[in-house]
Amino acid sequence: MSHPRHIAIIMDGNGRWAKKRMIPRTVGHVKGAATVRKVVQACVRAGVSHLSVFAFSTENWRRPPEEVRKLMDLIVQYLQKELRDLQESGIRLRVIGDRASLGPELCGWIERVEQVTQNNDRFHLTVAVNYGGQWDILQAMRRWQAERPDQCLDDLGPADLSAYLSTADLPDPDLLIRTGGEARVSNFMLWQMAYTEMFFTDVLWPDFSEAHLQKALHWYGQRVRRFGRTDEQVAAEMPAMAQRKA
Ligand code: FPP
Repeated sequence: MSHPRHIAIIMDGNGRWAKKRMIPRTVGHVKGAATVRKVVQACVRAGVSHLSVFAFSTENWRRPPEEVRKLMDLIVQYLQKELRDLQESGIRLRVIGDRASLGPELCGWIERVEQVTQNNDRFHLTVAVNYGGQWDILQAMRRWQAERPDQCLDDLGPADLSAYLSTADLPDPDLLIRTGGEARVSNFMLWQMAYTEMFFTDVLWPDFSEAHLQKALHWYGQRVRRFGRTDEQVAAEMPAMAQRKA
């Protein structure tokens, strides 16, 4: 059964998890941050090498200021608390997104954790903060153009653009998991998810467990990834699949 190398997760449902318990939404986010920790460990155990989580989107600024502040604080706390364990576990952490409007404390911690973990290669955790897929594509185009003032956009191909995305040194996600019952990509890695398999579950993010991850991995293992080709072409290249179809 094939295995994803890179899983991307849209962690939805923290607010509803809290509402069901009649506690503040922000407590749902605290529980959600604890779930990130558990899911990283579960991914390592499952042999997945890359995990990217959508912690704060370019659209999340529209939330009540108190909730925005709490989410930013939580990300700082996560970086502070996890640095030692990340390092001991050989995990490299990257943060993607527009840092221009993040506070100096958060930016400082991002730089610190990225720098300390930069040589780790056992597992790659990417946290998207003030990230939007549209922002990523635009910033890539602008940087490409800025470095080539004499060239026109006709010269820009998909591989050129990929090399300027914030995920340039990461493989594209093989599997997207979205919790919380919605079936949309909400401006996460739009370019990178062109051929990503998408798994949607009603489970609320704070309740997401290793067993749920295993279920998603099993579902992924049954997908036939054609990347635009026909079933027959894929079967010709994969003896195992040819046998299954026979
Ligand atoms: C969506 O749930 C969740 C978010 C916008 C924030 C996700 C953040 C965390 C899990 C914690 C911080 C992350 C890290 C890596 C430390 P929602 O609030 O939209 O839930 P709802 O749809 O039920 O209201």
